[in-house]
This record gives sequence, structure tokens and C-alpha cells, in this order.
Amino acid sequence: MDPDSGEDDMPDRASPGRAGGHLLHVLYEVQQRLRHIPRDAICDVADRLGLPMSQVESVVDFYAFFSRTPRGRYDILFSTCTSCGHVHGETDLLQVLCERLGVAAGQTRADGLVSIGTTSCVGMCDQGPAALVNGVPLIGLDVGRLGDVAERVEAGSPLADWPGEWFDVEDHVHRPGLLLATPWQDGAAIRASLDAGPEAMLAEITRSGLRGRGGAGFGTGMKWQFCRQADAGERIVVCNADEGEPGTFKDRVLLTGHADVMFEGMTVCAHVIGARRGFVYLRGEYRYLLPALTETLARRRQAGLLGAGILGRDGFDFDIEIIVGAGAYICGEESALIESMEEKRGIPRIRPPFPVTHGYLGLPTVVNNVETLAAAAAIAVNGADWFAAQGTDQSKGSKLLSISGDCAAPGIYEYAFGVTMRQILDDCGANEAQAVQVGGPAGTLIGPADFERRLAFEDLATGGSLMVYGRQWDLLDVIRNFARFFVHESCGFCTPCRVGTSLLRNALGKIGRGHGTHYDVEEMRRVAALVKRRSHCGLGQTAPNPILDLLARFPGVIEVYLAHGGFEPYFDLDASLEEARQLSHRSDAEAHLR
Ligand SMILES: Cc1cc2nc3c(=O)[nH]c(=O)nc-3n(C[C@H](O)[C@H](O)[C@H](O)COP(=O)(O)O)c2cc1C
Ligand code: SF4
Repeated sequence: MDPDSGEDDMPDRASPGRAGGHLLHVLYEVQQRLRHIPRDAICDVADRLGLPMSQVESVVDFYAFFSRTPRGRYDILFSTCTSCGHVHGETDLLQVLCERLGVAAGQTRADGLVSIGTTSCVGMCDQGPAALVNGVPLIGLDVGRLGDVAERVEAGSPLADWPGEWFDVEDHVHRPGLLLATPWQDGAAIRASLDAGPEAMLAEITRSGLRGRGGAGFGTGMKWQFCRQADAGERIVVCNADEGEPGTFKDRVLLTGHADVMFEGMTVCAHVIGARRGFVYLRGEYRYLLPALTETLARRRQAGLLGAGILGRDGFDFDIEIIVGAGAYICGEESALIESMEEKRGIPRIRPPFPVTHGYLGLPTVVNNVETLAAAAAIAVNGADWFAAQGTDQSKGSKLLSISGDCAAPGIYEYAFGVTMRQILDDCGANEAQAVQVGGPAGTLIGPADFERRLAFEDLATGGSLMVYGRQWDLLDVIRNFARFFVHESCGFCTPCRVGTSLLRNALGKIGRGHGTHYDVEEMRRVAALVKRRSHCGLGQTAPNPILDLLARFPGVIEVYLAHGGFEPYFDLDASLEEARQLSHRSDAEAHLR
């Protein structure tokens, strides 16, 4: 892999109905060239693309990978994930590098050579600790490797001259199953769909029981049907490759080794719903995959699997473009993703209407996860019965799991739905697990009492992340890490999430510092309930889950910190809101924090 790849490899791609390239791509080029996006450049970009200045400015400010102030020539961002992050045992690798290079965390060195900061999980949890350097994943970090990194940075060595193995992201598939082990032939799914016809193919996908693999588990056949039925001249297929949930990297592996299957799933979807355009929304952290994905698309066009008259079928025209994100977890939420595709900030839309009727540019749009689309392609070839023969009553087929943390063999494991957590932990060599976070920070935290539970939508649901925590972990640290993640990634649109996630993080911080009381715990419960109930989108609605799980399943963890009894809160938050209540003429219970 060429670590410098991606910088010059961005031809003008998707833009909503005009020339000049997609705003995110144009801004990325500016950021690479100037190492920041100054006001002059914002004017130029707005002018060139015919967009309002305010729109370009708001996008620059929204996405973490853009900066108004100059970043270093080497821009290093450490992952903060508990699995692949910079805190490794007793060692904080971020601090180690900061000391070696003489720069404070979050700062750019005075000579402009290097910036060091943090970012959310970069999807390398099976080969961390990891960081991004100029947007490229740097894996397997330890004190020794960081010493070498520091030397190369000081010497001004180009990334292309750094040792290849530092960037050599591996797949680590330890247990292939229904999807990964079944032989694949390019074009087979499209041929099957053309032979069957769109109605029969839709019926097959529906009969298979396939449910979305991105987290929510919505029936794929039903989603395609709603879109197909929508009254419109044009329909759109979107593959959600934003994979930002900490601890998840299974889509990375599919995009690396099975991109054809995913593209073919998109093409089958296009045939079923009647779409001519498809998009892959690729997370910015996976930009290094862009050259290979672009090549695969070109090869598929050459082979008649994309473009006009696919496989010689007159009228079946479909092509796919790739849009690369810029470091915003919220853009994985499907309506925020569509906003981002439309060159805006990734703020989730008010729903209904749903994307299936009003999606990209107001057109009926199917948004599916990478794995869902790959499974759809496999079903098209092998049939609904083949798929439904595995799994449980409500969860058919198999699931790819990204397993990381304290286990002997982190990586990808594919299981039929219904497998027990105990079995999974045995297989990956996690004999000393005190807890497992299932489905990322927004999911479920379980302990040994729940290890006989089954992986399925009707029991333990997961988008694919499974983080194992051994006995050495203080689970309060884990939950504080998740709370910081949600504060960082809240898009700020609605108050319950914007303010509530900060209040929860602060409460955990106070408890962690030994100043918490039972009052704080009860306050935290109340705020958590409010954030869950009142937030606008799934991020806020799930952000308190880890805290509530910790309180319910591991009550002793927080009790230890409450040993300093007697301490009373010095700040009455409810009283401080009195003025706001008066201004908004509110006196109802919801306007109070107690
Ligand atoms: C905060 C948030 C982040 C999300 N991130 C992703 C993601 O990275 N990938 C994904 O496929 N779905 C993600 N989703 C779910 C999507 O909104 C959507 O349900 C999914 O892409 C639909 O595809 P599926 O039906 O194939 O699962 C996220 C949802 C929320 C609320
Ligand atoms: S819940 Fe959070 S992420 Fe979702 S819209 Fe509100 S502020 Fe944004």
C-alpha cells in the first residue's frame, strides 16, 4: 500500500447536480495542500462550486478532519478507542510521542512540523494501538515504533519512505461462515436478478428474512419494497460504509476483500428498485481503501457489470460513485449521511419522511449497510432457503463480528445468529473476560451472568462490534471513555443530547475523581433517562446505555468510588435553570431536572 495514496487521487466525483466536484472532496484537497482551510480558500471554493459561503463555512467547522488553523506537516491523530487507543496498559502512547517530539497534545509544534491530537476509533481495533498520520492508518504502535516515528518526523521523511508494515492493515478473518466462506463469482448475483426479474428477486430477499446489519435490523426486503413503490422518476441506492462505531471493523474487511460482492448487492438492489445511481459513503478513516475500490469499480464497468446496459440488458443502466466522509461519526446515521452527501453538515433529519421515500435530493433512497448488501448479493445467487437455514426465528443467516480487546485472537468471526456469547468468547480466547460491550458504546454492556445469552436481534443485538474487557480494567474508565466519545460526536443539534451527554461525562468524571455521592448517581440516572427519551436521533437515544448498564449490571463498580460519602453537590443545576424556565414560560415537570 502506498501511504501517501489518496492525496492526488481524487478526481471530481459526486456533486448534487453540478460540475466542480463534491464539496467534501474539494475541501479535503485544500486541507491537504495548505494544511488548513483559510477564509480565502473558503471564498474560492464557494465561488468555484456556486455554493453560499455560509454553507462552505459550516461544513468546514462541522467535520473533524478540516481545520481553520494550520495543522503540522505531519498530522498525527491517535485513536481514543478502548481497544485500539493510545492508552496501552500503564503507558499513554500519546504522551510518549508528545514528549519525544516536544509538542503538547492537541497542539501544532511552533515550527509547523507536527501536530498531535486524538480522534475517535479509527477501525483498527484488531491491530492497534493505532493512529492516523496525514489520514493514513498507522498500526501496531508501541513505544519502540513511536521512537522510530519521531525520528522520521524530525528528519522530514516522506510517508512513502516509512516501513510498509507500519501501514499494512490485515484482515484477520479467524472464522469465515455463510458469507465469507461461500465461493463467489462476479456477475452471478446480477445474472440471477435479471433471470428472475425485479419482483421475484424482491420476493426472494424478503423471504430470506434478511435484516439490516447496520444496527437497527430493519427488514431489507421491506425497505427495498417501500422504495420501489415510492412515486418518483428516479431512485437511489446508498451503501453505508461509514463504520464509525468504536470497536467495529467488519465493513473494513468486506471492503478490502469482498468489495465485488458489496457492489453487486448494490446492483441487485438497483435492479429491484429501479435505480440508475448508487453511492458508497466511505468513512474518512478508510480513505486509504479508495484507490482499490475505484479500481474495482473500473474493472466492473469494463466487464459490463456497471454502466449502460448491464450484462447486455437494454435499459438496465446503473453506476456507482464514492463519497468520502471527513471524520464525523454522526454521518453513519442514514439521514445525516444523506445530508453529508448533499454537501451539508451531517445533522440528522426529522423523520418521517424516511429516506425510502424522501432521501438523497428528495428522491426515494435505499440506505443499506455494507454487510447487508453483501448478504443480499449472496442470497440472490444461493437463494432464500440457503440463507434462512441458518440463524434463529427472527434473525436469519449469519453475522460478522469484529472482536477486539482482551482476547487471544482479535479479528473477524462469522457466526450463525443464535450463537451464545460463551461460545464466541471461547473461540476468540477470552477466558478472563469480566465484561463485554456488545454493539459498540451505544449497545449493551454485559457481564458473566449474561454470557449464556444469544447473539440475535431478539436477544443480544449488535451491528458487529464486540469489545472484551479483562479483569484488569476498571469499568468506570471504560464507561468514561464512551461518555467522552458521545460528547465529541454529538452533532449539537438538539439540547438533550448536546447538553445531556456533557452532563453525563462530567458526572462520571466527578465520581471517578472521588467526589461523587449517591445524589450524583441519581442525578445521572435522571439525566440519562431524559437524554434517551428526548434526543432527536439514535445517537442521543442510545448514548446513556453504557452508564445505565454499568449501574444495573455492575453496581459495585461505582459504589467503590462513592466511599467519600457526605460530599454534597455545590451547584444546583435545577435552580440555575430558573431564569431559562421563566423566559420560556415553562413550569412543567419536564422543565425540571428533578
Ligand atoms: C449515530 C448512528 C450511527 C450509525 N452508524 C452507522 C454506520 O456506521 N454504518 C451503518 O451501516 N449504519 C449506521 N447506523 C444505522 C443507519 O442509520 C441505518 O439504519 C443503516 O445504515 C441502514 O442499513 P441496514 O438496514 O442495512 O442496517 C447508524 C445509526 C446511528 C443512529
Ligand atoms: S441526538 Fe445528538 S447527534 Fe442526534 S441530532 Fe441530537 S444532538 Fe445531534
